[in-house]
Amino acid sequence: MSKDTLSIRHNRTGREVEYPLLKGTLGKETVDIRSLYKDLDCFSYDPGFMVTASCRSNITFIDGEAGVLLYRGYPIEQLAENCDFMEVAYLLMYGELPNRSELDIFVQEIGKRSILDESLRVFFEGFHYDAHPMAMLVGVVGSLSAFYHSELNMKDPEHRRICAMRLIGKMPTIAAASYRHSVGKPFVFPRLDLNYCENFLNMMFSRSSPNYIDPNHYIDPEAVKALNLSLILHADHEQGASTSTVRLAASTGANPYACIAAGIAALWGPAHGGANEAVLNMLATIGTVDRIPEFIAKAKDKKDPFRLLGFGHRVYKNHDPRARIIRQTCHDLLNSGKNADPLFDLALALEEYALQDEYFIERKLYPNVDFYSGIIYKALNIPVEMFTVMFAIARTAGWVSHWLEMMDEPNIPIGRPRQLYSGPDKREFLSIDER
Ligand code: ACO
Repeated sequence: MSKDTLSIRHNRTGREVEYPLLKGTLGKETVDIRSLYKDLDCFSYDPGFMVTASCRSNITFIDGEAGVLLYRGYPIEQLAENCDFMEVAYLLMYGELPNRSELDIFVQEIGKRSILDESLRVFFEGFHYDAHPMAMLVGVVGSLSAFYHSELNMKDPEHRRICAMRLIGKMPTIAAASYRHSVGKPFVFPRLDLNYCENFLNMMFSRSSPNYIDPNHYIDPEAVKALNLSLILHADHEQGASTSTVRLAASTGANPYACIAAGIAALWGPAHGGANEAVLNMLATIGTVDRIPEFIAKAKDKKDPFRLLGFGHRVYKNHDPRARIIRQTCHDLLNSGKNADPLFDLALALEEYALQDEYFIERKLYPNVDFYSGIIYKALNIPVEMFTVMFAIARTAGWVSHWLEMMDEPNIPIGRPRQLYSGPDKREFLSIDER
């Protein structure tokens, strides 16, 4: 019997089958049970995909126990320390860090693709003034295929690349437009002389007078640095719920804009990307340090649906490496004096309290990246409803990279899980008078 297999024995029939153990570059061995149904006439049950690898991927690696996150092999700490978000987006998409001229060409193309078609701009007028920016983002991104249908031959790698670049390029423009619409302000055109983060901040906050960026082209470098860092940390996270949603939608052959819109919708939930918004709302509800014990008790009470938002992670069970990096930036930004915020003191007190509590220690519940990212966004004056939109801007780089990777595969099976049916047994229909 080969040692690189795992045997599954059906104890009723006595039939035993050996399944191959697959080994990736890094990470756990993975048993290939694709033929389980054929061999043993049963399915595997794994709600929430706790132990199921849904695909092969070369993009991101996570070791949840060790708190390791690698993009294309590079540790997140090194990328966060040294890179611009555009370099990271290039790395995720193409697999290698760009040299200077490759990066220049990439940045120029992203800039060129940041402009919205006029009719798409008008599309926003259909939204109610107080629509949530995430609702607008889902709708507008989903509609892109109606506006840009000339390069939608998914068999053509160049068409696919253009779609990916267009999504990365347009996401900040659509995001800022969603915000501007929600506050009744005119849209600001993208500026190709600014970098990705500066341009986004300018589209968000520019006024005819005074401009967000003053005549001497001054933009708070700390704000740009913090935003750049947050985008890098959120750019990819292997098969998270939204990326898996993108892949599932893509497996049907849906167009990339529809797939990314599906990913945005999945991101919105408070158990995923909606957590950063929910953290800030939670901190506002807690209000003062003396109320922390009350909320900790609520989070521990199994009868109460309340959870301490920004704590816990499906994969990281010791620490979230992104949280470690962003925590320091939070400190720097808020200690600079310009952005002092009592909510941050409250957040630190909550973190300290929870980390000493037996319930959180036992379950390995540590602050995740979104415990801090919302605080950073708040310091940048980004409104709370935009926090998940910020996550979506960053994650677009990851989503499109996964989509491109998947589209390169020769055979893409449609994502179609099975189920454990627990409804009524087969029964006879009763006419309405007999019921
Ligand atoms: N507060 C209180 N208890 C919690 C929390 C929390 N935030 N998170 C998990 N637990 C408890 C659960 O009640 C469970 O307890 P039990 O074993 O006594 O039943 C145990 O810890 C394990 O929790 P699961 O739900 O099984 O953990 P899972 O890995 O499925 O969930 C998740 C991970 C969804 C992130 C969860 O921890 C959570 O809801 N956190 C709050 C929301 C959040 O911050 N989401 C952002 C994730 S990061 C991101 O998307 C970038």
